[in-house]
Amino acid sequence: MRFRAFLLAASLMATSPLVAQSASDIPHLEKKNGRHALIVDGAPFLMLGGQVNNSSNYAAPLATAWPILDRIGANTVEVPVAWEQIEPTEGRFDFSFVQTLLDEARRHHKRVVLLWFGTWKNTNLTYTPEWVKLDNRRFPRMKKKDGSNHEVLSAHGAATLEADKRAFVQLMTYLRDHDAQNTVIMVQPENETGSYQNPRDYGAAAQKLFDGPVPAALTKALGKPAGTWAALFGDQADRAFNTWHTARFVEALAAAGKAIKPLPMYVNAALADPFTTPDPVKISSGGPQGDVIPIWKAAAPSIDIAAPDIYDRVSRNVAKHLDIYARPDNALMVPEIGNAREYARFFWASLGKGAIGFSPFGMDDSGYNNHPLGAVRLDEPTLEAFASKYRIVAAAPWAKIAFAHPTWGVSRPDDGAPVSTAMGDWTITASFGQWNFGRETWFPEAGRPPWAKEPVGGLVVAQLAPDEFLLTGDYARAEFAPRPGSAPGGMVVRVEEGHFAGAQWVVDRIWNGDQTDYGLNLADRPVWLKVVMGRYK
Ligand code: DGJ
Repeated sequence: MRFRAFLLAASLMATSPLVAQSASDIPHLEKKNGRHALIVDGAPFLMLGGQVNNSSNYAAPLATAWPILDRIGANTVEVPVAWEQIEPTEGRFDFSFVQTLLDEARRHHKRVVLLWFGTWKNTNLTYTPEWVKLDNRRFPRMKKKDGSNHEVLSAHGAATLEADKRAFVQLMTYLRDHDAQNTVIMVQPENETGSYQNPRDYGAAAQKLFDGPVPAALTKALGKPAGTWAALFGDQADRAFNTWHTARFVEALAAAGKAIKPLPMYVNAALADPFTTPDPVKISSGGPQGDVIPIWKAAAPSIDIAAPDIYDRVSRNVAKHLDIYARPDNALMVPEIGNAREYARFFWASLGKGAIGFSPFGMDDSGYNNHPLGAVRLDEPTLEAFASKYRIVAAAPWAKIAFAHPTWGVSRPDDGAPVSTAMGDWTITASFGQWNFGRETWFPEAGRPPWAKEPVGGLVVAQLAPDEFLLTGDYARAEFAPRPGSAPGGMVVRVEEGHFAGAQWVVDRIWNGDQTDYGLNLADRPVWLKVVMGRYK
């Protein structure tokens, strides 16, 4: 009898995931003192990711991703699932690739972020099934000002929303029923929403809405008076309107999907220049660019995060994007960044801004490289640039530390100039392109080290206590000094190099002499350092 009862219980566990998990087991986001954590298996989790190429959502190309992901030490893979793939015939669903992905990810000890390529993929409808693509009456494209069709589907298409939502809900249902262990930790509904060259739908129904009042939920959220889109948003009115309606569309998907399984959901942005007012015609109007995050927040409360896709090599722009997306109401997550070597250093600045995840794009060996956006090829130096960083950070309980303490990070700026910050009573300066020993001016004949001209270098620091810091980085010198104007007698008291045994800090040696006289020099071998500051009396 008891054996039969056990068998019954075991079979229920296998077939009924509802038995296996409570809501708190499901990955989710938490927020504390303006900081964010992605909680996976009950603890803060740092997503060390890699995204596969667009057409690697099939078994054979996916198989080429695992060696690359293992080589960089990724703990998560981001993979598209296409609407055309799961519902090639309306109402008939095929989740064989999703199951392959779950099986393979588990076999390779990776978590998964699922990218839903539906109505929008880089704005376009290319990933919709043919029965959607070819039926413009049922699934209307946006109208241009001259009445002709734009290629992108309209956010106002009620049938489009219903059909996309139905497919997305089926996908979430499949996850609920086949992923009790939460291999999938996050979902991205749609990919780079919006439209280029046509800031909104100019068709009759959309025009009527545009001429009407801005919804109260939005005016309230933005602290604006009642009024029309044109009156309240001026030159950006078309874009604000399309952003609202696109976000409402995605909200409907996300809310319906979360009702099935409440995984964290995020949207990704094709970025605009972060220092100028976007031109609504030239950028992807409707997507979650930095300046319209508040519209997305008001329209799509089921979307946890708006996230930047970074393919901009200009360090000043990258720093600004990270700054814009790291907000008390928005966890920083970098779901895509170019996979060329020089992008790897932005990992440090991202962590400093509290990033919950980071993921270079194109991390498989399917034969495609998206240079000039990313790497020409994934050669050893390129892979090692990401691997060395993932390796050292994976060796620490970083997500837990960063959730509990202030952090600061810096990536070598393009001009190589030093960068400083104040943390409490102390100034921390990161400088780049120096030999480990001495000051640059002492040995003019020695020139600068070989890496001085390369786009490498960065640091990340957590302030564990007012006078205690944890740091790592590479190709950088860190100098700790009393903050100007702070009490006299400030000095570096002790520098420990160590490692973590679980949560426990274990000291391996004390740095002193040459290792501390000219700052703390981290070159090609990142290590963890604990710096204790103090004051003599
Ligand atoms: C950003 C998109 O989100 C990705 O799917 C991909 O198309 C890259 N751009 C370019 O390779």
